[in-house]
Amino acid sequence: MTSLVHALPDQLRDQAAAVSTRLAANLQQPPRPGSEDDRGPSSPRWRGQSLSKGAAGVAVLHGLHIRGRGTFRSPAVEAAFAAVPRHLFLPGMDLATAYAPQVVVTKRAPDGSALSSASHPNMVATMLEQLDLQPGHRVLEIGAATGINAALLAELTGPSGAVATVEIDSELAARARTALTAAGYDQVQVVCGDGAFGHPDLAPYDRIIVTAGAWDIPAAWWQQLTPHGRMVVPLRLHGSGLTRSIAFHRHADTLLISDSVKVCGFVPLRGASDSAAHTIQLADDITLNLAANTGSRALGRALTHPAHQIWTGIMIGDTDPVEHLDLWLATSTDHFARLSLTPTAHRHTALDPAPRWAGATLHDGDATLADHTAQVLHR
Ligand SMILES: C[S@@+](CC[C@H](N)C(=O)[O-])C[C@H]1O[C@@H](n2cnc3c(N)ncnc32)[C@H](O)[C@@H]1O
Repeated sequence: MTSLVHALPDQLRDQAAAVSTRLAANLQQPPRPGSEDDRGPSSPRWRGQSLSKGAAGVAVLHGLHIRGRGTFRSPAVEAAFAAVPRHLFLPGMDLATAYAPQVVVTKRAPDGSALSSASHPNMVATMLEQLDLQPGHRVLEIGAATGINAALLAELTGPSGAVATVEIDSELAARARTALTAAGYDQVQVVCGDGAFGHPDLAPYDRIIVTAGAWDIPAAWWQQLTPHGRMVVPLRLHGSGLTRSIAFHRHADTLLISDSVKVCGFVPLRGASDSAAHTIQLADDITLNLAANTGSRALGRALTHPAHQIWTGIMIGDTDPVEHLDLWLATSTDHFARLSLTPTAHRHTALDPAPRWAGATLHDGDATLADHTAQVLHR
């Protein structure tokens, strides 16, 4: 816990300390039933969990981390985060990992690429805010994975709502079912199948949330959404896999209108809606993701040439709204790509793509690569 507090920006440290103290007090005095304090680690779902005060503090810091970034917009989403015991959905992980503000990969393909993960808690909160879920709603999730988000959906829809979550991988679907039961969310329906076809049995849905990258919106999602429903989908906007979480509300029968767009990255949907990614392996640990037929393998040779660095002199602050620079590049040239480097490659090459712009890179098709980098000037 101490290390997490120290990882937080200065302005949050005092708050972090205050919250962990308040939590310790909560644990000593059982909350009044139905009171606001009857949430979080002391709510019924947490009873019987062998959590030390320190570990429970990590859970609160996790909430604080999300709140600290201004992601929570509604008390309901924040309360749902406090109520769901995240570690029950990540069995075998230590508590610090389960509550850290990071993506936790839970299944990999033989080539090492991620097939499934518990999404970054801040992204989960962002998408739940985009979804605008209300008590009593009927909601469909595509991509159950750990079941964490399904539990949050169950908290938000309450006893009068209904939650179905579809997972294409039978082993993961079984794990999600077990975890949801262990955490007390028996009412969630876990379905093993291809989410591209939705889940007609419980349709129509007031809300649909997709938690894997989609190349398009399949007809089934339209058909299973109520006339005034809302859908949140991480849409892949470019062949390189550049993705945005887009919230749509349905207007009449034939229109989906987007009203919120957030930066994100997701493992792709598999199955019927899958679309082959176009990648070039530049070196063992370095992959270039690009639009089909825009570059050749010869681009790998660019890495053997001397690198040149040119600084633009443009300075940006942490909170400056520059998150869509990669989207601008992707839409203003045919030569946009994204570089993916493993942590080892990060240490051993001159390439240093700025994570903030998802590895944004330009190429000329066969000989030159220019990756977009950034350096920290002041802390
Ligand atoms: C990023 S994870 C979802 C995170 C999850 N919502 C959570 O709370 O932990 C994406 C999941 O989507 C699943 N998936 C991929 N394609 C799918 C499909 N066509 N239908 C249903 N699930 C799919 C993957 O197996 C993976 O488990």
